[in-house]
Amino acid sequence: MNPSVKIIINDQPLELPAIVGSEGEVGIDISSLRDQSGSITLDPGYGNTGACTSAITFIDGEKGILRYRGYDIAELAQKSTFIETAYLVIYGELPTPNQLSEFSDLLTENQMLHEGMRFHFEGFPPTAHPMAILSAMINATSAYHPNLINKREQRFSYHAARLISQVRTIAAFSYRKAHGLPAIYPKTTLKYTANFLHMMFSHPGEDCELKPELVKALDLIFLLHADHEQNCSTATVRMVASSRANLFASASAGVCALWGPLHGGANQAVLEMLEEIHQDGDDGTKFLNEVKNKSGHRRLMGFGHRVYKNFDPRAIIIKNQCDKVLEQLHKTDPLLDIAKKLEEIAIHDDYFISRKLYPNVDFYSGIIMRAIGIPLDMFTVMFAIGRMPGWIANYKEVMEDSNSRIARPRQIYTGPNIRSYTPLDARP
Ligand SMILES: CC(C)(COP(=O)(O)OP(=O)(O)OC[C@H]1O[C@@H](n2cnc3c(N)ncnc32)[C@H](O)[C@@H]1OP(=O)(O)O)[C@@H](O)C(=O)NCCC(=O)NCCS
Repeated sequence: MNPSVKIIINDQPLELPAIVGSEGEVGIDISSLRDQSGSITLDPGYGNTGACTSAITFIDGEKGILRYRGYDIAELAQKSTFIETAYLVIYGELPTPNQLSEFSDLLTENQMLHEGMRFHFEGFPPTAHPMAILSAMINATSAYHPNLINKREQRFSYHAARLISQVRTIAAFSYRKAHGLPAIYPKTTLKYTANFLHMMFSHPGEDCELKPELVKALDLIFLLHADHEQNCSTATVRMVASSRANLFASASAGVCALWGPLHGGANQAVLEMLEEIHQDGDDGTKFLNEVKNKSGHRRLMGFGHRVYKNFDPRAIIIKNQCDKVLEQLHKTDPLLDIAKKLEEIAIHDDYFISRKLYPNVDFYSGIIMRAIGIPLDMFTVMFAIGRMPGWIANYKEVMEDSNSRIARPRQIYTGPNIRSYTPLDARP
């Protein structure tokens, strides 16, 4: 028997159906609530609102569980690669060797930007933030593919591969442009992450050294970001997709949503915070006191999560990787010492414990990226590259759902009641 929930609104008893997810999560289906009662629900920030059913990613924030298509993130981090995981996230199953090689070939075939797109880069000022360029250029890609509305599976696979492959090329070109460096084209012989580092750091006539441990570390960062259920940017992608906008337009909106410091911009904000603490000669204690007494409206960036209330499983993987990378490079980083000190104090401090604030994935990822040589303003771009498979998978889910409707929330109006227009010369 399907479960249901009985509620009383204005003395009227109502019975609402409930949906149980494959991990036992219960959602009360309120789609008939307004018709039945005249009322709507109000949930600013959507902390208690499910906007869809989805078979892509499962998170249990209390237990610190994250699974893509049923596979635990720690197992994927240890055994898979970003591209294999991207296939899994988009198509639902781990690829066979043939499928993986076809997918990789499709990525390689699509890695070059349309030559016309190169001229768009020239229009941006040298001070442009790479996230602004990324969002604009992903959207501009739609202009080169007027038949995007065609939803045949073959075309979808093609556009999905194009997006995953080209986001990396666009990202590298925007870095080169911002630093006044000539664009470096991708190589067909290099794998995804190595190719990205090549486009970032090689010079015409001189290829950069691709240290395997750094390629692996960045590949892991991409993999750990591949999807994260209905966060702000993914929900944005789904919302835009619900209007039947094309894949590139939807992903471009995702980039904009990701940019903010409370979301993907947090990795940049963490490093800026650590640098500030370092420059102040503080060991973190003074800064944490400011955070706790809320005097400067500061937050401990890289801490806290809307869903994880115990620990973020990605943070543990990334912290271990961070130690490994610095050890392999024989590097020390004073910012890593400050980060560890902040974490040590915060996880034992009642302010953070009582609010269930723990390190999230962004707390340590920036230190790895810094060790790789990725500049600060490219950190969120790295997140966007990693998140692309998740956005594509969510876009696909919206498009394939025959019951999908345009996303259109309601509101409770709190403005003035009806009043008459006062002519300009009669206003005080
Ligand atoms: C992620 C985040 C946006 C989640 O926000 P949320 O679920 O809406 O939580 P709230 O903003 O309601 O915060 C709840 C309480 O914890 C406090 N809090 C939340 N995150 C905090 C942080 N990083 N540092 C200090 N205090 C924090 C809030 O001030 C609030 O305290 P109060 O109850 O005394 O008012 C929030 O934790 C944050 O801003 N973290 C820092 C940015 C970050 O790392 N983002 C990356 C997420 S992957």
